[in-house]
Amino acid sequence: MKRGTLIAFEGLDGCGKSTQLELLAEVLREAGFDVLATREPTDGAMGQRIRAMARSGEVIPAEEELRWFVEDRREHVRDTIEPALAAGRMVLTDRYTLSSVAYQGARGLDPEEILRAGEAEFPLPDLALLFELDADAGLARVKARGGVAEPSFEQSAFLQKAEKIFESLERAYIERIDASPAPEQVRERVLAVLHERLALL
Ligand code: TYD
Repeated sequence: MKRGTLIAFEGLDGCGKSTQLELLAEVLREAGFDVLATREPTDGAMGQRIRAMARSGEVIPAEEELRWFVEDRREHVRDTIEPALAAGRMVLTDRYTLSSVAYQGARGLDPEEILRAGEAEFPLPDLALLFELDADAGLARVKARGGVAEPSFEQSAFLQKAEKIFESLERAYIERIDASPAPEQVRERVLAVLHERLALL
């Protein structure tokens, strides 16, 4: 059986990647593809632990935080992503290795090191769509949908660091997408990119 395709959706909070993932999943399903939509942090044991930590506001050392995300990804790849790729499915994941690079990099760890380790251990995505939006515009969207109260200065400064790291990444499998227009326009661009890069749709 022909191996499936892995597409990662990456970007800052509020960039709209989750909406775009749903829109693309729908188009691909209508076109007859066998689509698996999944996300990180996952709904598995480690993913739940990460979400509980985020809710509680608890801050753990950056190295340990990275270990948690990598362990979650390890389970995700082993139990969900690899079997789906082996079965020839189209896998869309909401966040993957580049999120660890940008966010745990923003906590002070070495982004290149996280990227190298991630690429060495996990399957490379066929395509990583990087939805670009500046940090404060993303936070404003999160606030507008009722996600959080007024973002703190620290939160904004942290996301600006993550934004800089996302901007600095250079890999052949990354395609940057301007996430500032309306969702329908961004969707058109996503479809065009799939056509150009993967000869799909
Ligand atoms: P997010 O996609 O915002 O999940 P949801 O809105 O569905 O809860 O991800 C949760 C947070 O986890 C987000 O702020 C980014 C962060 N994160 C990391 O710091 N490192 C990682 O490796 C991943 C996958 C996510």
